[in-house]
Amino acid sequence: MKKVKKAIIPAAGYGTRNLPITKVLPKEMFPIGGKPAIQYIVEEAVDAGIEEILIVVSRNKNMILDYFDRSLELETFLEKTNKLHLLEKASIPNIHIQYIRQPYAEGLGDAVALGKLFVKNEPFAVILPDDIFLCRRKVALAQLIETYNEHHSSVIGLQKVKPELLKNYGVIKGEKLKGRQYQITDIVEKPENSPPSDLAVTGRYIFNPTIFTYLEKLEQGVGGEIQLTDAIKDLLAEENCIGMCIAGDRYDIGSDTDYLKLMNRVKKKYSN
Ligand code: G1P
Repeated sequence: MKKVKKAIIPAAGYGTRNLPITKVLPKEMFPIGGKPAIQYIVEEAVDAGIEEILIVVSRNKNMILDYFDRSLELETFLEKTNKLHLLEKASIPNIHIQYIRQPYAEGLGDAVALGKLFVKNEPFAVILPDDIFLCRRKVALAQLIETYNEHHSSVIGLQKVKPELLKNYGVIKGEKLKGRQYQITDIVEKPENSPPSDLAVTGRYIFNPTIFTYLEKLEQGVGGEIQLTDAIKDLLAEENCIGMCIAGDRYDIGSDTDYLKLMNRVKKKYSN
C-alpha cells in the first residue's frame, strides 16, 4: 500500500472573518510566537512524514511564497555583519513546497481539486491552515495517517464541538468503531438545524485519489461554494470513510478568542 507523502494546504481564502487586517496580511501569516501560522502547519506535515507540499494560493498571498523562499540578500547581510547565527532563527522547514493559484474563490472543494496533477495516484493529506493543533504526543496529521495505514480508506479529523457552534462546521453521522475511530455514515456542511451529531470536521483529512472523481462532478453547495464536504458525502455512497477524533487542543486562528489563547499558550511555552 502507498504511503501518505503529499499534502495540500488550501490558503487562497480572503480571510473575511478577520478583516480589515486580512486586506494586507494573509491569515496564514498571522504571527504566533515569532513564526507565522502556516509554519506550524508545515512543521506538522514534516513531523507526520510528509515529503511534498502543494500550497493553494490566490493573488494577494505572495507573502507566503516569499516567506518559504531563501533570502540571499539577508544571508549576505548577516554574513558581512558576522551575525550568521541569527539565520537559525529565520530558518524554515526543509521540505519541497510548490504553489498553485486558485483563480476564483470557488470554495474548498475547488481548491483541493486543483491538486489533482500534484497528487497523481497517491493517497494525500489536506491540512486547513486555520486550525492549529497542539498535541501532547503525535501531531494531529500523524494521528490521521496512523488510522489511514490501518484502514486504507479516507480519514476525516474530528473533534467534539458545543452544540451551538456546530452550524459553523461540517458535521458527521457515524458509529463508533474503536477508541477514537468512527465509521462515517453521513456528513452535512454547516447544518442550520438538527446536526447529525456533535462531531465536527476539523481541518485535517486523508484521501485516496478517488476523491477527485467526486470533486469534479460537484455543483455549488452551501454558500454558493464547491464544498469538500459534498464530495465526501458522494464518496460515502461508494467507499469506506473513517472519522478520527484528534487528541489535542485545536485553535481556530480565524477566531480572535482562539488566536489570543494560542498566543498565550505559545508565549508560556517559550518563557518556561
Ligand atoms: C471548512 C469546511 C468544514 C470544516 C471547517 C473546519 O469550513 O468546509 O467542513 O468543518 O473548514 O475548520 P470553513 O471554516 O472554511 O468555512
